[in-house]
Amino acid sequence: MKKYFLLAGLYLIIFLAGAQELKSPDNNLTMNFTLQGNGIPTYTLSYKNKEVIKPSKLGLSIKSEKESLFDNFTLTDTKTATVDERWNPVWGEYKSVRSQYNELAVTLTQKETNRKLLVRFRLFNDGLGFRYEFPQQPNLIYFIIKEERTQFAMTGNHTAFWLAGDYDTQEYDYTESRLTEIRGLMKSAITGNASQTPFSPTGVQTALMMKTDDGLFINLHEAALLNYACMHLNLDDQNLIFESWLTPDAKGEKGNIQAPATSPWRTVLVSDDARKILASQLIYNLNEPSKIEDTSWIKPTKYVGVWWEMITGKSTWSYTNDFPSVQLGVTDYSNAKPNGTHGATTANVKKYIDFAAQHGFDGVLVEGWNVGWEDWFGNAKDYVFDFQTPYPDFNLTELRDYAKSKNVKLIMHHETSGSTRNYERHLDAAFAFMKNNNYDAVKTGYVGNILPKGYYHYDQWTVNHYQYVVEKAAQYKIMVNAHEAVRPTGLARTWPNLIGNESARGTEFQAFGGSKPNHVTILPFTRLLGGPMDYTPGVFEMDISKVNPTNNSHCNSTLANQLALYLTMYSPLQMAADLPENYNRFLDAFQFIKDVAVDWDDSRYLEAEPGDYITVARQAKGTGQWFLGSVNGETPRTSTIKLDFLQPGKEYVATIYADAKDAHYKTNPQVYTITKVVATSQSILSQWVAPGGGYAVSFVEADKAATKGLKKLKTK
Ligand code: NOJ
Ligand code: CA
Repeated sequence: MKKYFLLAGLYLIIFLAGAQELKSPDNNLTMNFTLQGNGIPTYTLSYKNKEVIKPSKLGLSIKSEKESLFDNFTLTDTKTATVDERWNPVWGEYKSVRSQYNELAVTLTQKETNRKLLVRFRLFNDGLGFRYEFPQQPNLIYFIIKEERTQFAMTGNHTAFWLAGDYDTQEYDYTESRLTEIRGLMKSAITGNASQTPFSPTGVQTALMMKTDDGLFINLHEAALLNYACMHLNLDDQNLIFESWLTPDAKGEKGNIQAPATSPWRTVLVSDDARKILASQLIYNLNEPSKIEDTSWIKPTKYVGVWWEMITGKSTWSYTNDFPSVQLGVTDYSNAKPNGTHGATTANVKKYIDFAAQHGFDGVLVEGWNVGWEDWFGNAKDYVFDFQTPYPDFNLTELRDYAKSKNVKLIMHHETSGSTRNYERHLDAAFAFMKNNNYDAVKTGYVGNILPKGYYHYDQWTVNHYQYVVEKAAQYKIMVNAHEAVRPTGLARTWPNLIGNESARGTEFQAFGGSKPNHVTILPFTRLLGGPMDYTPGVFEMDISKVNPTNNSHCNSTLANQLALYLTMYSPLQMAADLPENYNRFLDAFQFIKDVAVDWDDSRYLEAEPGDYITVARQAKGTGQWFLGSVNGETPRTSTIKLDFLQPGKEYVATIYADAKDAHYKTNPQVYTITKVVATSQSILSQWVAPGGGYAVSFVEADKAATKGLKKLKTK
């Protein structure tokens, strides 16, 4: 009897505190919401009865007489929903994506102020998403966010793969360490083009990948970042609690909100199987369906470019070194002195168009075609580009017609030099100019400090700028690949013309000194969760001094690893970055880049361990053909996989591009083997992989390829 009363009392307390439980559809995940102590909203998360997120507070501080939007709440309404639906992406890793979750929306009303805050939770089988909603109400109309105060309390001193907190760049190598080691390693984690000191000695970026000592994989990120500042995470390393840290604007404010409004989703992916983190579509599922009705003009693209030669320093973006064009209106370059190293000359671009046409590529990116680069490199601190005036040695009309005759598309380049307002002012004219000249894709760039002064790459205003460009481009039926823009959060579902982003350390760093060999085994667990990356793989000459004698960089990757990246770095936009002359030296390996698809009906993550290796097989859209890629970190290994994704009863010719036995990313990166074998769905493939190595496989149905004399793969 006593027990009974005790229990009833407990339930009453829980009820008054607003305790709510939410389960994932498969029951593996449980989220609990309560109001603690002084009406403080709090949540926890567990996976298969293991705690993932300890009691963590929710809320915000705002500029107001009553700053707190994080306590003194009562629970005034709850709503639940169950959703199970499918959607078909315009491009992607899967033909169709399932979005299955249970939802709980709690409305909180603040005593005294009578302000209302709604928190919406969605629990999927692979993780949690939640966001703040600010309903229309008399007591909270316009407000400024001082800080968002969302916590993610960790259960232990996990291993993390992290990037130093920075409001302007993500172009770092990852640091792998325990959470408590972040503080000590922060200085060494800031490298190269750091634009500033980190905002805090324990501040990191999302997507943050972690592994617990008992084998759970946890990932923290955000989804649908719209009209809001990008979130970083600040670690209280005494208590192992992460707290949201928004990017401030020039005034130090962290968000200007007008209700009704919503925050982006905060996401927690969880699994005991690393492959499920890679396969997760949770971040896309938290974004709205496509707002573009006719998507027929959005085309997955494989391209080459007049680019690597500039990145390596073999040629230049500028046509001249000494002509100051920074005064607006100065566009006559006929008297400017050519520097003799300009990359985007008519003759050179034609060479790339010929190469693209010969090998079946869709596009040719040309950088350094327009006037202004000499000012920018000459350190003109203000806007320099008009996006419409070609250098005198770049004959746009001739190249437009030449590309057309070869059935190749030129890809436009708009380096904004970080001057967002200048770009916005020129945007309509620049896009109309593209359309008039047969361009339907643009690579944008935001190198340098953002102008207007004081703004950052990831604040609310600059986030809005990137979105403005994507939406404006959609009006013109233009595809966008934005470099140095904010990290993607799944918005490509809503705006599928956003076919690429950089927003991480790409292949260019292999020509700026090199990247860690395991970098590519981490990116799919972090940066790629929010959207595709224009990583620009395909470097065949790792000794960069062979491209430009004054550049001593080394590309820390084997040639076979470079091939595998076309599978492991999912993107509907893939570049073959190296120079045509380097591909001509290895045409047998280049065949894989020519063959590999860029759009998929299905993807199977076969092996995965962040920092160590990733193996994925993908089925090409429409053709049924399978491709496979595996990338490796520092430690050599044997990858053993079942080929049970192949259609049963069929035979395939598998062409395996692999590291030779003595391959090594540093000392011997260019040695590889190409082997043809017969494979079926019963086959087992055991493949040795070099340090910084990899392998790539294409599977062709046997009735389309000769099997005569080929060995069969073993089945045990
Ligand atoms: C940095 C970009 O990542 C690179 O791809 C581009 O070539 C340069 N900026 C110049 O815009
Ligand atoms: Ca870049």
